[in-house]
Amino acid sequence: MSNRVKKAIIPAAGLGTRFLPATKAMPKEMLPIVDKPTIQYIIEEAIESGIEDIIIVTGKGKRAIEDHFDNNFELEDNLIKKEKFDLLAKIKQPAKVDIHYIRQKEPLGLGHAVWCARSFIGNEPFAILLGDDIVQSEKPCLKQLIEQFEETGKSIIGVQTVGENETDRYGIVAPKTYEGKRYEVDYLVEKPKKGSAPSNLAIMGRYVLEPEIFNFLEEQEKGAGGEIQLTDALQKLNSTSSIIAYDFDGKRYDVGEVLGFIKTTIEMALDRDDLKEELTLFLKEILNQSSIDHAK
Ligand code: G1P
Repeated sequence: MSNRVKKAIIPAAGLGTRFLPATKAMPKEMLPIVDKPTIQYIIEEAIESGIEDIIIVTGKGKRAIEDHFDNNFELEDNLIKKEKFDLLAKIKQPAKVDIHYIRQKEPLGLGHAVWCARSFIGNEPFAILLGDDIVQSEKPCLKQLIEQFEETGKSIIGVQTVGENETDRYGIVAPKTYEGKRYEVDYLVEKPKKGSAPSNLAIMGRYVLEPEIFNFLEEQEKGAGGEIQLTDALQKLNSTSSIIAYDFDGKRYDVGEVLGFIKTTIEMALDRDDLKEELTLFLKEILNQSSIDHAK
């Protein structure tokens, strides 16, 4: 069994109901943050982390994702003729990675979506990146996890601390012991009810796992929300070979819900040299206007 992490799964079969009506005919993974689809941020993180093969688990109505990560000769030709080489560079496909697709035929949950990619992964450690979490960090988040995996030889899940009032939205890790930013996992629970979470360590959509997880996903029954949960299978994996939760460095943006999506868009636009100045002026202007309106 090779121990290098070369393959990654990106589940992208969700219905995107939080963004309706925008996602009625368009995959939520194609919604842009500034001018780049959210899934492209995820793919770029995987490439920068050394991943060579990515499998995207898609579902009904997700063809735009496949078109996006394909060559568009007509558009390329047009841009070459117009000598718009800066735009051409933006649409060129990444050479360093192969992207593959498989369909999840029924929306049975995240655990099931991951299980759909089992033949592609085979018997080697692999990564999972969830599209609702974008992480900006000096060293790519997934790379940090891969380094932890290489050091410990154990499955690693990325975590960060969240507020008391947010724990019911995540998979939560109950830690046993810790060493720096590394926690040995006691147990895991998916979306615990408010007030019942064993800690504030929330799973943040990045995993490096041993292929044994597929044995547990195979027989995993439905859990929280009536879905087959990855967290429940991880809980079983942890009882046979211990899992490490790693509190990674970086700022994590929640683009899986509307307000988080808007905040991310503004923050990332403010980070762009070509947009920063005018956007700052505009924001100040509308904030001033709204405080005047409120004072009336
Ligand atoms: C999924 C996982 C959950 C994790 C979250 C991170 O939940 O099941 O454990 O904390 O992603 O974004 P979802 O947000 O898909 O319901």
